[in-house]
Amino acid sequence: MKFFIDSADIKEIREVHSLGLIDGVTTNPSLVAKTGRGFNEVVSEICKLVAGPISLETVSLDAEGMVREGEELIRYGKNVVVKVPLTFEGRIKTNVTLCFSPVQALLAAKAGAAYISPFVGRLDDISQSGMEVVEQIVKIYANYHFSTEVLVASIRNPIHVLTAALMGAHVATMPYAVIKQLTQHPLTDVGIERFLKDWEKVPNKFK
Ligand code: G3P
Repeated sequence: MKFFIDSADIKEIREVHSLGLIDGVTTNPSLVAKTGRGFNEVVSEICKLVAGPISLETVSLDAEGMVREGEELIRYGKNVVVKVPLTFEGRIKTNVTLCFSPVQALLAAKAGAAYISPFVGRLDDISQSGMEVVEQIVKIYANYHFSTEVLVASIRNPIHVLTAALMGAHVATMPYAVIKQLTQHPLTDVGIERFLKDWEKVPNKFK
């Protein structure tokens, strides 16, 4: 399973990238706005830093505008995947975002999308199971051998990541905080504490 970071914060991205934890980046207009920085500088830095796929989102709502913006966006780097809120087919790699149902995902796959992004957290927020939608998408794509990858987005916690992995989703994109949470376990902390305590009792340590 590939891990992407869902962020436009270059500090966060640099940290997880230097640890070798991420395969790509997903951004959206809200994440870029949150940085308080200019789109050009933020996106140029990210595309240079991370070799893997970088999803950059269009804001036009009509197909013509999306294609025009997509063509602008791919100038930032060969690793750019254009994120669009609707389906369209073209030569540009697309990440179809804001997906909330399995039939939307079916349409995106039929239209030739490279990625489909179901938003699990936002479905959970309105009392619908986001992971159930992911399960259905994975099954539909397997039934028809679609090559579209399921990119689970709007992840809020490590359980979302675990469930996505068990379901066979191809990618989980998650905020910096969730990536950090994946490394944590209370028994790991207790274990380290115990090892360090015992280590104090060992004589003749390193020369
Ligand atoms: O990048 C899209 C998605 O992951 C946003 O998540 O937490 O704003 O629902 P969230």
